[in-house]
Amino acid sequence: MSTDSTSSALSTAQLTFTPNIVSLSCALVLATIAIPSTVQAKTVNVTSPDKHINISLTDDNGRPEYQIQFNGKTVISPSKLGLVFQQLGELGTDFNIKHVTNSSVDQTWQQPWGERENIRDNYNRVVATLSNGKIDFDIEFKAFNDGIGFRYLVPKQAGLTNTPKLDITDELTEFAIPDPQHTTAWWIPGRGWNRYEYLYNTTSLDKIDRAHTPMTFRTADGVHLSIHEAALTDYAAMVLNQGRDGILHADLTPWSDGIRVKTQPGFSTPWRTIQIAKDAPGLLNSDLILNLNEPNKLGDVSWVQPGKYVGIWWGMHLNENTWGSGPKHGATTSETKRYMDFAAQYGFDGVLVEGWNEGWDGSWFENGDVFSFTQAYPDFDIDEVTEYGHSKNVRLIGHHETSGSVTNYRNQMSDAYDMYQKHGVTQVKTGYVADGGDIKRVDDNGIVRHEWHDGQFMVNEYLYSVTEAAKRGISINTHEPIKDTGLRRTYPNWIAREGARGQEYNAWGSPPNTPEHTAILPYTRMLAGPMDFTPGIFNLAPQGLDAVNRVKTTLTKQLALYVVLYSPIQMAADLPRNYVQRLDAFQFIQDVPTDWSESIALAGDIGDYVAFARKQRGAEDWYVGALTDEVPRKINLKLDFLTPGKRYEAQIYRDGAKADWLTNPYDYVIETKTVTAIETLDLSLAASGGTAIRLKAL
Ligand code: NOJ
Ligand code: CA
Repeated sequence: MSTDSTSSALSTAQLTFTPNIVSLSCALVLATIAIPSTVQAKTVNVTSPDKHINISLTDDNGRPEYQIQFNGKTVISPSKLGLVFQQLGELGTDFNIKHVTNSSVDQTWQQPWGERENIRDNYNRVVATLSNGKIDFDIEFKAFNDGIGFRYLVPKQAGLTNTPKLDITDELTEFAIPDPQHTTAWWIPGRGWNRYEYLYNTTSLDKIDRAHTPMTFRTADGVHLSIHEAALTDYAAMVLNQGRDGILHADLTPWSDGIRVKTQPGFSTPWRTIQIAKDAPGLLNSDLILNLNEPNKLGDVSWVQPGKYVGIWWGMHLNENTWGSGPKHGATTSETKRYMDFAAQYGFDGVLVEGWNEGWDGSWFENGDVFSFTQAYPDFDIDEVTEYGHSKNVRLIGHHETSGSVTNYRNQMSDAYDMYQKHGVTQVKTGYVADGGDIKRVDDNGIVRHEWHDGQFMVNEYLYSVTEAAKRGISINTHEPIKDTGLRRTYPNWIAREGARGQEYNAWGSPPNTPEHTAILPYTRMLAGPMDFTPGIFNLAPQGLDAVNRVKTTLTKQLALYVVLYSPIQMAADLPRNYVQRLDAFQFIQDVPTDWSESIALAGDIGDYVAFARKQRGAEDWYVGALTDEVPRKINLKLDFLTPGKRYEAQIYRDGAKADWLTNPYDYVIETKTVTAIETLDLSLAASGGTAIRLKAL
């Protein structure tokens, strides 16, 4: 739909647009103000609809800068804007604001699947055209109640007709944080060897060198902010690089030849985003990233199905099985059928099978070129397992590990997706593990190039796999992905991704995930979108409680993860035999849905704890997940999100009185009581414990 207003007319006329997509329910009101180029004072302000956030943009000394106030206090000090091109030099020095357009939008759109059904998109917008007399470019700001977004647009224009190619060598964007010594930041290192798979650092902001986004921080006044980006397509990812204390520079991940972005006139950058909230749950209740993405481009996406799966997976991480051939091969026909039986019996719709295809023998980390994506090992019969699955109403979930050899994958991609489609596979997990953190591609001249996971080349490559899969009714769950920037709105078959340290690290990571890890993820990685964390490990310490590698949570914290860490697809990650031993607790994993009509973050603090309530889509039941770090905690949970007057059976899965992740992780209690919206539940979480509740409407 078009929200652009004509910027030529000097008017405050109100125009009403009829939205042209079905999901829009509100009318839009736009106002246009053009500032004549003779006006000298060049400060442009835009305020959020609730007036708490103010952005001001100036062009003092021919240099565009912005700053942001929240409730009257500066949260972003004057910060540079602009882009540097190999062909043009800086767009940002000697540029003045020549023209400004304002508009406002208040609309509601629907997610085909998601953490909530209806999303309100309400903002005030300003587009400033800057010019040096020869070249124009635009900076567009949107102020929402939950934060801001801005981006650059370089339109096609007469001054660029002789410059068909534009190479960006730097982005000048800065985020200047006042008082970095007294600002606490939660961050992972930017551009490291291991993509996004790190434990989070909690430090004062001035200690950051280079950080990936979302990078979340809290000011001395308790304001919570998170810097990230939205709608990253055909551009390099932004990492934050702190040169001088408090000045975070948008450092674009380069191509192997050093260029940051290869583009042409008529492009726009991704949105640079800052979520702003008065408290930590406020960050979690924000839809800013999705609102800054384009609407669904795929049309009818009823074939994209949220759901739950089990898989031939954890056994490999525990070393009980191998991906490659041999006596411990996991992906055999008989083992797959056994998992399909288990899935059918307990209501799971899919079985993920890793290691069925040729290429895993030897050091697969380093040898992605030998993967075949169509040739199965002799002990895996894809016809037989998919027919068997069909008879049980359980789908095979496909898997493609590329080990970062993306040209080898690209060369086989259409055959591989065709083959899955033919076998009724509707979901594929992809993987881009790459030794040393680099991606290997072969360029048009046959030369091997090493690229970053988050450079422009890979940004495009990941999306290519998603759009190719969409043509065949397949959804993609990317591991070792490019970070999420909300593209699920535009491409709803990009159903989930990893992009952080997941459960697998508990099997072999040194160290495994800490008790606080899942109390940080909601406020950092999860602000970007769904994560395939793969929760639900019941045998928390297969090698004993004292072993280095074990899961550092209580059992009920594993259940709480299904509600806390949102994903439309959730794995029950443990081995079937461990579930069969604890069927009472397993009931929660069977019941919990993965598609919601509402989601509310009720309470929490970053790195300490979090509590979410979510309402099942198409039903009246609510689910609650609460978890804590290593500190035992009591939470008073007001049930005022429930429908007033209605009675619910609360099925509570909680830590027992002696539960403790370190010494006694299996002490849990399952109890039920009848509750209504006027009640409060007193939750008691053990050290690294959690509570999971189903509120079944009566
Ligand atoms: C890393 C993924 O995160 C994991 O889930 C998968 O099992 C391995 N790669 C092998 O593809
Ligand atoms: Ca991984």
